[in-house]
Amino acid sequence: MGKIVWNETLSVGIALIDEQHKTWIERLNALAAAINTNAAQAQVAETLGFLVEYTGFHFSSEQKAMQAHNYPGYAEHLQKHEALKATLAELVKDFEEEGATQSLANAVNTFLGNWLIKHIQQVDQKFGAFVREKGIVIAGQG
Ligand code: FEO
Repeated sequence: MGKIVWNETLSVGIALIDEQHKTWIERLNALAAAINTNAAQAQVAETLGFLVEYTGFHFSSEQKAMQAHNYPGYAEHLQKHEALKATLAELVKDFEEEGATQSLANAVNTFLGNWLIKHIQQVDQKFGAFVREKGIVIAGQG
């Protein structure tokens, strides 16, 4: 997969979450660029660390908004976040043990990008629809 570019098809209609998704995509692109250009291990480690850190921040921010508004899809959504966090933790472990292998490159170039797009369009957008339907304003929404 090439560089991911945020566009309106990825909008969930909540400014705060859309902005976070843009940053999330930038961090994934930075990691993919580091791996695909055979950057130094330290740079791969740094971009991977940034992605993991931001994923945790973003998931937690989204979950707080869901809980604050009693979103009925919260448990299912949380499960998907936890599953991706577990996958990322595995990737970090593999990277620490084996470095930037082909399997890490495949996971970053294909799995993570596909997961992210599918998650935003099929899972996050459901929350966006709920927010619109209920006329809720999420804190930080521009
Ligand atoms: Fe935007 Fe559910 O992650």
